[in-house]
Amino acid sequence: MSNIQRLPQDTINRIAAGEVVERPASAVKELVENAIDAGARHIDIRAEQGGLSRILIEDNGSGMSGEDLQLAVERHATSKLKPQADGSWDLLHIQTLGFRGEALPSMGSVARLNIVSKPRGGEALAIQVDGGAMSGLKPAAFGGDHGTRIDLRDLFYATPARLKFMKSERSENMAIAEEVKRQAMAHEDVGFSLELDGKRVLKLYAEQPGFEGRLRRLAALLGSDFGDNALLIDQAREGVRLTGYAGLPTFSRGNAMHQYLFVNNRPVRDKLLSGALRAAYADFLARDRHPLAALFVEIDPQDLDVNVHPAKAEVRFRDPNLVRGLIIGALKHGLASAGHRAATTVAQTALTGFRIESVQPLLNLNRPTPSQIAAVRPYIAPEPFAPTARFEPVTAYDPPAYAQGVSEAPVMERPLDVTAPPVADTFPLGAARAQIHETYIIAQTADGLVIVDQHAAHERLVYEEMKVAMAHGHVQSQSLLIPEIVDLEREEVTRLIARRDDLAAMGLEVEAFGPTSVLVRDIPALMGDCDIAGLVRDLVDDLTEHGELLALKERMAEICGDHACRHSVRSGRRLNANEMNALLRQMEATPHSGQCNHGRPTYVELKLKDIEKLFGRR
Ligand SMILES: Nc1ncnc2c1ncn2[C@@H]1O[C@H](COP(=O)(O)OP(=O)(O)O)[C@@H](O)[C@H]1O
Ligand SMILES: [Mg+2]
Repeated sequence: MSNIQRLPQDTINRIAAGEVVERPASAVKELVENAIDAGARHIDIRAEQGGLSRILIEDNGSGMSGEDLQLAVERHATSKLKPQADGSWDLLHIQTLGFRGEALPSMGSVARLNIVSKPRGGEALAIQVDGGAMSGLKPAAFGGDHGTRIDLRDLFYATPARLKFMKSERSENMAIAEEVKRQAMAHEDVGFSLELDGKRVLKLYAEQPGFEGRLRRLAALLGSDFGDNALLIDQAREGVRLTGYAGLPTFSRGNAMHQYLFVNNRPVRDKLLSGALRAAYADFLARDRHPLAALFVEIDPQDLDVNVHPAKAEVRFRDPNLVRGLIIGALKHGLASAGHRAATTVAQTALTGFRIESVQPLLNLNRPTPSQIAAVRPYIAPEPFAPTARFEPVTAYDPPAYAQGVSEAPVMERPLDVTAPPVADTFPLGAARAQIHETYIIAQTADGLVIVDQHAAHERLVYEEMKVAMAHGHVQSQSLLIPEIVDLEREEVTRLIARRDDLAAMGLEVEAFGPTSVLVRDIPALMGDCDIAGLVRDLVDDLTEHGELLALKERMAEICGDHACRHSVRSGRRLNANEMNALLRQMEATPHSGQCNHGRPTYVELKLKDIEKLFGRR
């Protein structure tokens, strides 16, 4: 007995629609892709009520003839695949964004789809597909010389079950904007405009294709700061090319949302990218800071399978390790040359000698060996330091600056241990010999010298201390004289306020202040003067990424550390020898003290052999 029946075409289309058009943003994505494939120079996108009531997209691409229009809304009809000489159809050389011939028929089956199209030199015609029912061709009006206007109304009205799963209009709007952004990043030579509920949210002019245009486009989308703080990436390996821009470690964010990967100009979401970025920045970036990046892989379409996902959001590389290795290698190279740029006073060749090779392994040196810790105790008196001719002599017996009523709050809850430290150069960070420019501590190690950025180092130590306070106890709060108002997005306010009690327990008192801002009344006392808006925004970023699972305590400490400045020893403060050595010892005993909270190293070590290189002795 056979119960198998062939499904009618409109049912087949509706099933396919479930995969291709998951939500309004996926319809926008498909329509924008079509416009780009049609060679549009400008694409105008409008959406109403999260795209559910209407999506209107107009392009100035090639347009379609009446015959093509009718085929366009038929399932599996596409202009993007061509038969080979032997009559077979090749899926291995796909150069276009589309190729499945499913988007338009899917939309026509679950919504009311109206297409007006005008080919070059032809007339404008319209076709309508309403819940799967197709009309005939009708003459229509079209403003430009050629192009296509797609009007998609009442999305999912024909599939009410799907409609129930839609999120708020606001989050659909956000998803639409995100899709448009991604496409816009990959196509800097196309102009885009996006209007949501009558409000213009994007206006991007077409740029010259190429690196400069791309950077301008990225800056328009990721913030003008990105333009100033991005490294140019351009490397090739075994026929695969990687280009794009990645943020300097100092320009990182609290979440990984601003990391974009494009493969043959197709935006894809791939775990490979975040893993590779983490690996490349591991030595440069504090834990839980994420670099911004927009990277473009160009690869022979044969080494790639784009046909693994109905929405084409994922791809499969034939050799993922090659791509991963290329990304990591190119980023490390970019980061290394950023290091060169940062220090211009020493010969480039010498810099290659110490800055890159020595800084990296050193950053992993967080703790001294047990014997070095044990060695701290037995010391009795500090030796006077022999002033070095070229350095400002150290005044070893100044009273500690903390005791002199320095005009700022005490540097730490507990001042640095100023009992005489051992002055042995067997410590990993050596013995302090001088302070120069009231900013850097010079210490002698067994086989070289260490330069410590005292501000960066101390900031890190304060942060580690805060973390301990947050983890163990009761965090004291301090009321702000004038509560600070921080503007956020509507959803962010909701998210933050939902964790209000947890935040209060950590000393941060916030309350909603209108739908799009919060009022901060109290902050953790440990923080002193700080960038409150920055603190709140980083917290929100974090909540956005980790949701309710967030280990808020841990992160709170880190974020607070990032924003705590006042307590750190600023550059420009004279330290005596005891303080300097105490700082070095504390750094050795504190995890993660090799880099400041912003991902810069807190110290640099020059080995004697590197110094010899500088002087041409080797
Ligand atoms: N904006 C447009 N301008 C010109 N032609 C279009 C446009 N949108 C769709 N088409 C044509 O309609 C066909 C079907 O579109 P679609 O269903 O998205 O499938 P695919 O993009 O996978 O080919 C495309 O192959 C293309 O020829
Ligand atoms: Mg398409």
